[in-house]
Amino acid sequence: MKPIGPVNALYPMPTTLVGSTVADKPNFLAVAHVGILNHGTPQYLSIGLSKSHYSNQGIRAQQCFSICLPNEALMVATDYCGIMTGKKTDKAALFDLFYGTLETAPMIRQCPVNMELKLHDVLDYDTHEIFVGELVETYASEAVLTDGKIDLTRLKPLLFDMASIQYFGLGDPLGRCWNVGKALKRQ
Ligand SMILES: Cc1cc2nc3c(=O)[nH]c(=O)nc-3n(C[C@H](O)[C@H](O)[C@H](O)COP(=O)(O)O)c2cc1C
Repeated sequence: MKPIGPVNALYPMPTTLVGSTVADKPNFLAVAHVGILNHGTPQYLSIGLSKSHYSNQGIRAQQCFSICLPNEALMVATDYCGIMTGKKTDKAALFDLFYGTLETAPMIRQCPVNMELKLHDVLDYDTHEIFVGELVETYASEAVLTDGKIDLTRLKPLLFDMASIQYFGLGDPLGRCWNVGKALKRQ
């Protein structure tokens, strides 16, 4: 094995669109650095945002944000939201919006899955702020549900790779979790 330095090798990550209300207007930015903090109720998720972004002030002021999951078909619009800043551009005009119980966390009808989160904590790092949100509600298009659960093969998430700086699609499922490993259990 060859050491290649402290390279974060956790890609691919889902590319998301994080929604917030900044200065009374909806704004979205592309975010791939999302985290799952626990598996339970309440469910806490994190997003790592550079302090230079316009979105941060809106999340702080409104104490909420959304994490919307674009599919492969939304690649170009998603990338645009990762290039342009809401300081100068109305990115929300690209989408049909809706709001849930938190009222100021804008979500996107074209995204098959949208989550709204109440701000729980902000971790202050040198260049980034980590916003930890408590998941309040998830909205999914019927088209991506199988037996009431989100079906990745229908969702077709947009995956992000930092090494190649490319978007990828999802491959075929390989095996059932907490199950295929049983083949190595000693009797
Ligand atoms: C695919 C992709 C993923 C991105 N992921 C992140 C991220 O995880 N964190 C971050 O701070 N910026 C990320 N960005 C950059 C922001 O989306 C971008 O700088 C955006 O213009 C900021 O928007 P705002 O100023 O309106 O908030 C990403 C950009 C792209 C294209």
